[in-house]
Parts: sequence; structure tokens; C-alpha cells
Amino acid sequence: MTANPAIGPNRDEVQAHRGASAVAPENTIAAFRAAAEQGARWVELDVALLADDTLVVIHDDSVDRTTSGTGKLATLRQADLPALDAGAWFDARFAGEPLPTLAETIAALGDLGMGANIEIKQHPHHKSLDQLIRAVQHDLRQRKPGMPIMISSFDPEALRAMHLLEPDLEMAMLWSDLPDDWEARLAAIPATTIHLNYKSLSIGMLERARQRGIKVRAWTSNDPIELKSFWPAGLTGVITDNPKVYLG
Ligand code: G3P
Ligand code: MG
Repeated sequence: MTANPAIGPNRDEVQAHRGASAVAPENTIAAFRAAAEQGARWVELDVALLADDTLVVIHDDSVDRTTSGTGKLATLRQADLPALDAGAWFDARFAGEPLPTLAETIAALGDLGMGANIEIKQHPHHKSLDQLIRAVQHDLRQRKPGMPIMISSFDPEALRAMHLLEPDLEMAMLWSDLPDDWEARLAAIPATTIHLNYKSLSIGMLERARQRGIKVRAWTSNDPIELKSFWPAGLTGVITDNPKVYLG
């Protein structure tokens, strides 16, 4: 299905940022379910390792902001997760929502029929890149047949290493600002996609990317007016806290 570029993205190109995090607690199964209810087909989620090498779905390197508990991921193990409430901070309606592992999340998204953009976070407590990406590979290989998966990261080394393990997966380089030598940097990974802060988009870079077959998705935009002028120039997709505003 092709988008009408004058209007906006097609349904497969609206990714729910940390789930539908405008209406449900970020990076929880509740937020992923909310994204599905809004009609999204993809979610973006952040992953990092606990002390026992369990991959969990969380943005920060501690549980302080998004759960009822405290502590750095470096000090927590999977056995500590049941004591954490990852929903009540957002709204009492979500009290008791667990902090999910990546394995649990992939299973839930498979049941929802959704795709996952797995953003690999790099934190100082991670012991090695190899261990991190092998943990991601292990979990994503448990997915239902046909479940779409892509990988993104601010760390080009994580993408390069992941590409070697899983060459068929789409790799998206995350940038807040576009470096001048973006084409060479993508080629060195190699990656086919840029996920760029929408404030750094320009018509010129979109046209250049389109000519070279490079996809560009914008994050994190919650108001379609912000991207209106970029669709005709070739913007591929959007990562948003509130998919319904793009799925109208
Ligand atoms: O994938 C886009 C976006 O998630 C990158 O920033 O900090 O929200 O993970 P952040
Ligand atoms: Mg992210």
C-alpha cells in the first residue's frame, strides 16, 4: 500500500513510540495494546540488560522514573521484576502493570499481530556489545513466524554487530542531528534507514535519501502539522506517542 504523499504515512509506517505512550505507561504491554487499539501495526520499544542478562523493555538505565521501585538496571535481576509496578506512576488505572521482558513483549506483540522496532540502548553497565546483541537475537528468534521485526540504535556498532548476526533485518540508524557524512556512515554499518529527530528534517536530505533508496522516519512527532511539508519530499514514516493522530 502506498501513502498519498500529500496527506501522510500509510498505516504500516506509523510506529507507536514506547507503545501508545500518550495514553498508557510507556514500554508496557498496556501501551502496546493501546497502540493496537488505535490501529497501529508497529511499536517502537527500548531494550536494555539487567544484571542477570535478562533483556527488559525500558528507556532509562534505572527503574526510578517509570516504576514504583528504585534502582539501576545494573543491580536488578529478573526475579526482582514482579515487585515493580510499571503502570501506577502513569495513572491509577494501570496499577499492577508489569515491567516486561523483551521475551514477554515479543510474545504479546505476536498475539496482537504487531511488528516491533527494537531500539537497542547502550548503557554503561552493559558488559559487552556481543552479549547484548546475542541476547536480542535470542529473544527475537522466538517470535511467531511472520512477525515483523526491525532494529534501531543510536550506536552504529550495535547495528553493525546485529547486521552480521541477522542480515535480513532492517537496521535503522538513530540520529538527533543529521551528520554531514550520513551516507558514508550508513554504508559502513550497513543500514538502509535513518530514524531522525523530526526537528532535524529537511526537504533536501529527504530528497537525497529518496534518490538513494534510504528510508527516513521521524521521531517523535505527535502533531501531523509538524511533518506536513515532508511527506511529498519522501518522508517514509513517523514514530509517535499517539498513533491515532496519524491514523485518523
Ligand atoms: O526511536 C526513536 C526514539 O525512541 C529515540 O529516542 O530517547 O525516545 O529512545 P528515545
Ligand atoms: Mg526509543
